[in-house]
Amino acid sequence: MDAIETDQLTLRNFRQGDAIDLLAYLHQPRASCFFSLQLEDLGAAETEVETRSKSDEHIAVCLRSSGRLIGDLFCILEHPDTYAIGWNFNAQFGGAGLATEAARALFEYLFSVKHARRLYAYVEEDNYASQRLCARLGMRREGLFKEFTSFKQDDEGAPVFENTMQFAILRKEWAG
Ligand SMILES: CC(C)(COP(=O)(O)OP(=O)(O)OC[C@H]1O[C@@H](n2cnc3c(N)ncnc32)[C@H](O)[C@@H]1OP(=O)(O)O)[C@@H](O)C(=O)NCCC(=O)NCCS
Repeated sequence: MDAIETDQLTLRNFRQGDAIDLLAYLHQPRASCFFSLQLEDLGAAETEVETRSKSDEHIAVCLRSSGRLIGDLFCILEHPDTYAIGWNFNAQFGGAGLATEAARALFEYLFSVKHARRLYAYVEEDNYASQRLCARLGMRREGLFKEFTSFKQDDEGAPVFENTMQFAILRKEWAG
């Protein structure tokens, strides 16, 4: 993808050199849905960056001022015109509106350049920061799926199922 510039951010493909910053927030993922992406060390981060760099599904979010990678967005096409979207940011840069600024730019890109009709996100029921982000972006809460999926196991090795909310927004809602 071509890089997207906002007031404070650059959205671009992952590239060599991002590994240290990616490791900083994927060494201990905060959200259960990213537990499986946990990176052990810099070598693992470099491999992950290499994989991500080949895809437009993973978007690196960087500060324009320093170039530093502070988080990422994903957008996965479900043919013909729906995208599953999500976000994961370094907590060090939270609480300043940067995830909102990045996601707004991604939404505008998907609706206007990629001709998306519908965007949706899954959010765990206890992930209030992500739910607030969805609300700031104008996404509607469409449903709550009880014991929808499992990202972890209990002490006996049995899956722990979580309740998952779905949020979505249509192009005509974004335009409105
Ligand atoms: C979800 C996540 C991206 C939200 O991050 P965030 O820091 O709350 O979001 P933003 O960067 O947009 O910041 C918005 C917050 O900053 C506050 N803020 C402070 N100064 C601000 C400013 N100048 N401009 C805008 N917002 C500002 C807002 O009020 C808001 O806080 P609130 O939600 O308590 O009302 C982040 O928690 C995260 O990456 N979590 C781990 C991964 C994750 O959970 N992913 C989602 C899985 S479903």
